[in-house]
Amino acid sequence: MSLISLKNASKDFGIKILFEDLNLNIEKKDRLGLIGPNGSGKSTLLKVIAGIEPLMDGIRTAQSKLSICLVNQNQNRNTNKSVLEEVLDGCGKKREILIRYKNISETIAKEATSEKLIKELGRISEIMDKEEVWTLEQQCTEIINRLGINDLNKPINELSGGFKKRVALASALVSQPDILLLDEPTNHLDAHAIEWLQKWLKNYHGSIVLVTHDRYFLDIVTQRMLEVNNGITKKYNGNYSQYLLSKIEEEKSEIASNNKFKNILKKELKWLKKGVKARSTKQKARIKRIEEMKNNKPILKEEPLDIKSNTKRIGKVAIEINNLTIKSISDNNQKTLINSFTYSFRPDDRVGIIGPNGSGKSTILNKIYNRSNIDQETIKIGETVNIGYLDQYTNTLNEEKYLNKKVIEYIEESSYNLVLDNCKVSASKLLENFLFSPSKQHGKLKNLSGGERRRLALCKLLMSGPNVLLLDEPTNDLDINTLSILEDFIHKFTGCVIIVSHDRFFLDRTVNRIFNFENRNLVRYEGNYTEFLNQKELKNKKLRGIKQINNTQQNKNFLKEKESTDNLAINNKNNKIAKKIRRRTFKQSKELEEINKELPKLEEKRILLESMISSSNSDITKISIELAAVIDMIDKAETRWLELSDMSN
Ligand SMILES: Nc1ncnc2c1ncn2[C@@H]1O[C@H](COP(=O)(O)OP(=O)(O)OP(=O)(O)O)[C@@H](O)[C@H]1O
Ligand SMILES: [Mg+2]
Repeated sequence: MSLISLKNASKDFGIKILFEDLNLNIEKKDRLGLIGPNGSGKSTLLKVIAGIEPLMDGIRTAQSKLSICLVNQNQNRNTNKSVLEEVLDGCGKKREILIRYKNISETIAKEATSEKLIKELGRISEIMDKEEVWTLEQQCTEIINRLGINDLNKPINELSGGFKKRVALASALVSQPDILLLDEPTNHLDAHAIEWLQKWLKNYHGSIVLVTHDRYFLDIVTQRMLEVNNGITKKYNGNYSQYLLSKIEEEKSEIASNNKFKNILKKELKWLKKGVKARSTKQKARIKRIEEMKNNKPILKEEPLDIKSNTKRIGKVAIEINNLTIKSISDNNQKTLINSFTYSFRPDDRVGIIGPNGSGKSTILNKIYNRSNIDQETIKIGETVNIGYLDQYTNTLNEEKYLNKKVIEYIEESSYNLVLDNCKVSASKLLENFLFSPSKQHGKLKNLSGGERRRLALCKLLMSGPNVLLLDEPTNDLDINTLSILEDFIHKFTGCVIIVSHDRFFLDRTVNRIFNFENRNLVRYEGNYTEFLNQKELKNKKLRGIKQINNTQQNKNFLKEKESTDNLAINNKNNKIAKKIRRRTFKQSKELEEINKELPKLEEKRILLESMISSSNSDITKISIELAAVIDMIDKAETRWLELSDMSN
């Protein structure tokens, strides 16, 4: 028997049918991906499978004692429990066993030991062995850390939406349910966390139903697909790549049948024109068929979104940042997030900011936008600059006052009209361009799907006619269709665009300069994301190169040779530009020579100290301190070597 079955299941919210007559079984170890455009009903279907959203028609059956865990697309949980407590709560039965064990142990320690209690303790210990309960707290901490949350004691109600989502995900993973239902789990996760999660899910013993716009993730985790589109559901075997292949085949046969359809139609029309009178039933039937065919319009593909940008001219510099240092406020130690960042954003810049979770990517966008506690010299904004800021969690949409507002009211709050290319565009027209049907425009904000919310936030942002865009993880929740429209829009946008994103494809298509967080510094790379990766690999190769040759005599020659081959390798257009700008001065050339001499000596010292540590009669503490200092010096010298060798003579 299947774990969960839907029979002839149908669902609509009054206006639009999301799915109809759906038969779906969730089996043991199932790996099902739900796929479809924004607003098609994926999240609703997940809730139906979970049993928390009622069906309009049809039946849902589930095996008894089945454990199901749903991680919703948006998380608004408010409790003053700490992160760790909340995640431990997710452990359900296991946590109860742990608490029971602790209680009995305490009773036995305090009171005269009863044989019954000792037996019970033995029984519980056995269960704990079997279910790996002893290390429960450790397991939770590990998963929490892997998902990029460092502060285990922070109360949930002080967390942002993205962090709440990660806590809910951690909680679901530790609870190890029979069925795991995940709605956009990779939103807000960095590349490391995503990779870890995808491996974890691949080995998961239970069943998984997954909704994600991350095509790589979908490809790796799932083994079959259910497409939900315009009220029609279709099943496909295989992962996302196989699904795409099937779609191509379908499209081919659709074209063939469309052509066939057209040919029949042509023939029939010709026959009609001949003026044959519709007397016999056979002829009447024929005419009826033609009428039906004419009325049977092809399936409506969604109208493409065409938004032109309206920008005021910006002067020479859009935003100038001088020596910006930001310390983390959530951290008691006041850890430095960004160290002395200086850069002038030009009016037509296309810049991506990347880095691991918690490195400060959103903070820098936020600082540019709000400039709280920042003096005017540190961040200077051009006079005619009008910033449009899309925050990571579309926070304003979650505010209580907006939940019952109508979509159109929310947009009209900014302005009734927008001037685009010297034409007045009404809020309603703009919403239509953003694929909001008239009925959707009069729907409430709280009922919008994840992608619709994101689309609405973009729409609101454009109502103010910005000429600088600050986009924080703009691709979260967007379907492929909307994504390519957004990419296109950025391409046509004439102002400055600064994007924080972990979406490699999106960055490849939208930016030509990257700032990567490295040791609290924003390090600049010319080119898009793929070019950034190539340059990083080259850097790593260089580092490995230095290490290998440090023990040889010819390091100087080698470094010179290597430098020239590397220069050849970095021959893409952007690097040439970068090199033109950054020339090595005489002093810097001398410095590079010095480092070339110094590095082998430092390496020798490191090897010596390491061998001293392993000999029995040495003062380990003293040598360890000295060794740490030498390693630090090597690190610094290597970093500087890379900087200097990246410049041209
Ligand atoms: N409670 C509700 N009342 C009315 N309409 C709703 C309600 N919940 C969802 N909808 C609408 O139903 C449709 C499907 O929503 P759902 O959240 O399931 O879409 P989705 O496929 O998950 O979209 P996305 O990819 O954007 O997350 C949307 O148009 C949404 O606005
Ligand atoms: Mg959804």
